[in-house]
Amino acid sequence: MKFRSLIVGLIAVGMSAAAVAADPITIKFSHVVASDTPKGKAAEFFKQRAEELTGGKVKVEVYANSTLYKDKEEIEALQMGAVQMLAPSLAKFGPMGIKEFEVFDLPFIFDNAEALHKVTQGPIGASLLDKLGGRGVTGLAFWDNGFKSLSANTPIMKPEDLKGKKMRVQSSKVLEEQMRAVGAIPQSLAFSEVYQALQTGVVDGTENPHSNLYTQKMHEVQKHMTVTDHGYLGYALITNKKFWDGLPAEVRGQLEQAVKESTDFANKIALEENTKALEGVRASGKTAIHEPTPEERNVFRKAMVPVHKKMESRIGADLIQSIYAETGFDPSKL
Ligand code: LMR
Repeated sequence: MKFRSLIVGLIAVGMSAAAVAADPITIKFSHVVASDTPKGKAAEFFKQRAEELTGGKVKVEVYANSTLYKDKEEIEALQMGAVQMLAPSLAKFGPMGIKEFEVFDLPFIFDNAEALHKVTQGPIGASLLDKLGGRGVTGLAFWDNGFKSLSANTPIMKPEDLKGKKMRVQSSKVLEEQMRAVGAIPQSLAFSEVYQALQTGVVDGTENPHSNLYTQKMHEVQKHMTVTDHGYLGYALITNKKFWDGLPAEVRGQLEQAVKESTDFANKIALEENTKALEGVRASGKTAIHEPTPEERNVFRKAMVPVHKKMESRIGADLIQSIYAETGFDPSKL
């Protein structure tokens, strides 16, 4: 009898030890775009690598397409610890009180991905991520999406074509000012509301990298699109600071490795995904795609670059100057 209860006891202890070992740390990763976008794919890649590298000690649940939270709510949810990871667009940190991130929204500030990466993957990027600490958030990395096109139901060949148009923007004062600079009326809307707003005429047009436009089917409700590449849209991969700091050191190290690998992955696939999406829009036959000549593009540049000076007091002249110094951008060369 004694022997039997010992065995039963041992089994019970063994079972609860197994239950503890099998009880993984859960990371809820919420985002607002489709799964087949650069961010959606990178989030899935992070899930796979985090689970592999931690040997199952961490389980990542990815919630795409605003299924868990919309733009504004997701940041609040992260700060409260209701979700553990997000990758909001850099244009969405203003409402959180970090206005400096809007420097990435300045039109034409990055001539190409190489210039951009000098900032996001260099010391300026690191110091920007550090600023998040004071808001209970740890900044882990920058993930690319791409450069934006303008779209509407009428052709946009020159800045005047945007005059009086209601253009949807993300929640960034710089983007609002950029639209005003060309005579448009900016309307800040959550990403999940854009398709319907375009369809019902609440707004006339928008700006997006092709991957976002295509996967949300915005091309079905936008007859014209101009590949202006006038501005950049990318992400900061962020986590709840208390959660991250409280992880066992070994697990945190493994997750840092997963972050590194998924950042390389995100930044490798972004351009390709956007190119494929543009081809998808073209193949749909629903949207006329205008590719401006360098001269035509320069007219947009001339109209929009004065926004840099105008937004100095919001973003910080020093930060803007440090980016010019890093990338070689010269606003006087128009
Ligand atoms: C948008 O709102 O247009 C984008 O920030 C969506 C995203 O996450 O790419």
